[in-house]
Amino acid sequence: MLSRSATAVQPARRACGRVRPPGDKSISHRYALLAALADGPSTIHDYAPGADGASMLHCLAALGVAIDRPAARQAPLCLVGRGLDGLRSPAAPLDAGNSGTAMRLLAGVLAGQPFTATLTGDASLSSRPMRRVIEPLTRMGARIESQEGHAPLVVHGGRLQAIEYAPAVPSAQVKSAVLLAGLYASGRTTVREPAATRDHTERALEAFGAAVERDGLSIALRGGQRLTGGTFRVPGDLSSAVFWLVAAAALPGSEIEIEGVGLNPTRTAILPVLERFGTRIDPTVERTDAGEPTGRIRVRHGDLRPVTIAPAEVPAIIDELPALAALAAVGAGLVVHGAGELRVKESDRITALVGGLRALGAAADEFPDGFHVHGGGLTGGTADAAGDHRLAMAFAIAALAGRAPSVITGADSVAVSYPGFFETLDGLRA
Ligand code: S3P
Repeated sequence: MLSRSATAVQPARRACGRVRPPGDKSISHRYALLAALADGPSTIHDYAPGADGASMLHCLAALGVAIDRPAARQAPLCLVGRGLDGLRSPAAPLDAGNSGTAMRLLAGVLAGQPFTATLTGDASLSSRPMRRVIEPLTRMGARIESQEGHAPLVVHGGRLQAIEYAPAVPSAQVKSAVLLAGLYASGRTTVREPAATRDHTERALEAFGAAVERDGLSIALRGGQRLTGGTFRVPGDLSSAVFWLVAAAALPGSEIEIEGVGLNPTRTAILPVLERFGTRIDPTVERTDAGEPTGRIRVRHGDLRPVTIAPAEVPAIIDELPALAALAAVGAGLVVHGAGELRVKESDRITALVGGLRALGAAADEFPDGFHVHGGGLTGGTADAAGDHRLAMAFAIAALAGRAPSVITGADSVAVSYPGFFETLDGLRA
């Protein structure tokens, strides 16, 4: 018998149908956090249903934020903001679970509080690098104790001064931590990015009423700005939808329509990359909510071609690389360099990705900063997701195109971002 977290995946001939992906994880974190700091109540529709979104809410509740999350699936989330200076000292460590975004963004906010709070996480999060936020937040005036740059983080908040900061790695989480701390700093905080990263924090700050100055790769804000609560709708998560885009791309005769999906231009670089694979993609923006464009994507199979990803392309598609690797194994191959950041995600996404695809029958090589997945199809086999939600989903899609059934171990990790992933997958089997 399979263990609870081992899931069998049968091959599929085609994948067809309509999917509404779960609420975007990155945007959900920002809306919940800014709603907590805002004046007045906020209502958030389509908040991310996975464990990561829940981790953020548990932390905010422990900081004194009143949160009403009805059990009904469609019901909106209601938070009562405590104002910029209203958070309460938590009685126990704040557990960010598996969520790097929750830990790093909360570190930015905690840096400006007149109390000390501890941030903890699961084994994966506790092995991820935190110096990248400790360093700028310390320069702003916080004192942060860590385990040699890893969680638990003990954040002694204090009076902050604005800084100009140029992060060494392109990271929306680092940018966001510094900008959130900047709300508490005297003066004007500036982040100069080495490459553009997702800009949900900037858009959300504006939607909550703050003024953000943007000039190319520089983002600045003045401290002390008040935020105002409101009603927000989270678009569907393109990084979750990408598994369906890849399923349609991988299986001849497939056609899938993705509805209600976020199409923020700092997230859509994956779409032209899929076109380079030969996939036929047709996105349409239908509306913009709180500065976030939302719409639909129609995707159809096309003959698959080999693809090379240049290092400069990586930051904008970093979360989608496991899905692309799965497509490449089924199709005609993929070479990626400049993606060393994959090694410090929820798992070492180079070693675990190459290992899992090999287990499914692919030929694949590992580089220090990337990988080469050779195309040619998959036999099927048993792949270990290494507790990583995106690897579990990538291997499941690869397994659809296997010649024999496969097993994904650690498949319950999909609950981090996509509860119901396997049910949706079964619904798309033609
Ligand atoms: C995220 C930023 C990215 C991304 C992660 C979510 C965010 O991480 O990989 O899944 O919500 O800001 P980095 O900031 O570490 O690049």
